[in-house]
Amino acid sequence: MSRYDLEKFLVPNGDLEKQKEYTELVRTVIGARFTDKPKAFVHTYGCQGNVSDGERIKGILADCGFCMTDELSEADLVLYNTCAVREHAQDRVFGNVGALKKYKTQNRNMKICLCGCMVQQPHVTERIKRSYPFVDLVFGTHVSHRLPEFLYRIYCLDKKVYEIEQSDGVIAEGTPVLRDSTFKAWIPIMYGCNNFCSYCIVPYVRGRERSRSSQAILDEVRSVVKEGYKEITLLGQNVNSYSGDMNFAGLLRAINDIEGDFIIRFMTSHPKDCTHELIDTIAECEKVERHLHLPFQSGNDRILKEMNRKYDREKYLELVNYAKKRIPDVLITSDVIVGFPSETDEEFEDTLSLAREVRFSSLFLFIYSPREGTVAARMEDNDTHETKVKRFKKLEKLQADNSSETASEMVGKTYRVLCDSVIKDGVLSGKTSTAMAIEFDGSNDLLGTFVNVRITERSGWSLKGEVVR
Ligand code: SAH
Ligand code: SF4
Ligand code: F3S
Repeated sequence: MSRYDLEKFLVPNGDLEKQKEYTELVRTVIGARFTDKPKAFVHTYGCQGNVSDGERIKGILADCGFCMTDELSEADLVLYNTCAVREHAQDRVFGNVGALKKYKTQNRNMKICLCGCMVQQPHVTERIKRSYPFVDLVFGTHVSHRLPEFLYRIYCLDKKVYEIEQSDGVIAEGTPVLRDSTFKAWIPIMYGCNNFCSYCIVPYVRGRERSRSSQAILDEVRSVVKEGYKEITLLGQNVNSYSGDMNFAGLLRAINDIEGDFIIRFMTSHPKDCTHELIDTIAECEKVERHLHLPFQSGNDRILKEMNRKYDREKYLELVNYAKKRIPDVLITSDVIVGFPSETDEEFEDTLSLAREVRFSSLFLFIYSPREGTVAARMEDNDTHETKVKRFKKLEKLQADNSSETASEMVGKTYRVLCDSVIKDGVLSGKTSTAMAIEFDGSNDLLGTFVNVRITERSGWSLKGEVVR
């Protein structure tokens, strides 16, 4: 992306300054209206990119004078940051929003806000207006940096706000962020998507692909590393096509050169833009994970073409084989869609055989879900849901065997893991550089540190181990 393009997307400083003024206004008004700090309940659905947006939304809310709560019943403001990727994700949101009506009758001052991908679709916003009139604020994905202004309008002017601007999208730098973790940081490197895979809603709700400047990304990484963060995950719908003033491989190298003990993860890679240069870079950078999440979606060339994925089975397998050769300990994970319109049993067999051949360490399986406005939603689809479920189960079974096999090969070996959760008092879980989770006994204060763990046993694909010096 040229300098010109970056400037086309950047929110001007003046606009961000204005939002700071709104922040001060809201803080004052809210400070006068509530005796204690009002509580915000924020819940994010969907992908890590959305989770990262959620952290930035929480940062704005905190600056505006809110504290966060996990208790819906005590919330003064409820915000759902939504996802539209499958119908099921959307149904859950509608169900949960419906349930809020009860809370609002108990607390008439409660404000209900919806944002994210789902509400960026005009037909959804219409449905909210019509069927959920108790919702106070609805804002789309391209205007979230204007949340202080929206809060001003709902709290100070007592207005309902619907702001769903259709645009190519923006890049807002320097907005506050309240991270969920003290050792894991999500760092977006690009936004939007230009790929228009025929089944996918993301390009319609997230705007055009745009990369942050490497300077802004490197500054953010440096600052979180300085704060003690140990896992940096670079985010984008297709990180391989990052195009600031360097490419993605260059960016990985630059981050790898930052001093400190931390691991660099990234998602998602797209096979059409994944290069040997990138794989070489992963092999050569000691801080970069030994893991590649490379969605293949289908193992059949006709289906891949219908999906508009722009690679074929051969190219996918070539990439995987190159990665396995260059990074001998690499583990590969993937996404796959079962039951794309007109997929035959034979075509599905190609998906099975690809999964068998690659032997993913784990696989995210999805049954195709038609999304209004996409190309695939207009394709004829004669397969019954039962057929799709049958295929899903077949693949699930194959993958369970593959995952177990990967796990059993790890038994007896020792791995450096970042302890990332406390399962219960004295029992922790951590992730290897290859993105495998291991459970082990240890004191809770190991959370957020690197430890060496020897794998002692496996059940199915879950691993148990012990901390070693
Ligand atoms: N940008 C990423 C994926 C984002 S969505 C990529 O290109 O790989 C995450 C996953 O959801 C996709 O990989 C796909 O497997 C699945 N998905 C997307 N749209 C879907 C749909 N309409 N039905 C079922 N699964 C879908
Ligand atoms: Fe969707 Fe394809 Fe873009 Fe991924 S690359 S977000 S699947 S359109
Ligand atoms: Fe969902 Fe939007 Fe992510 S549709 S998967 S939250 S980009």
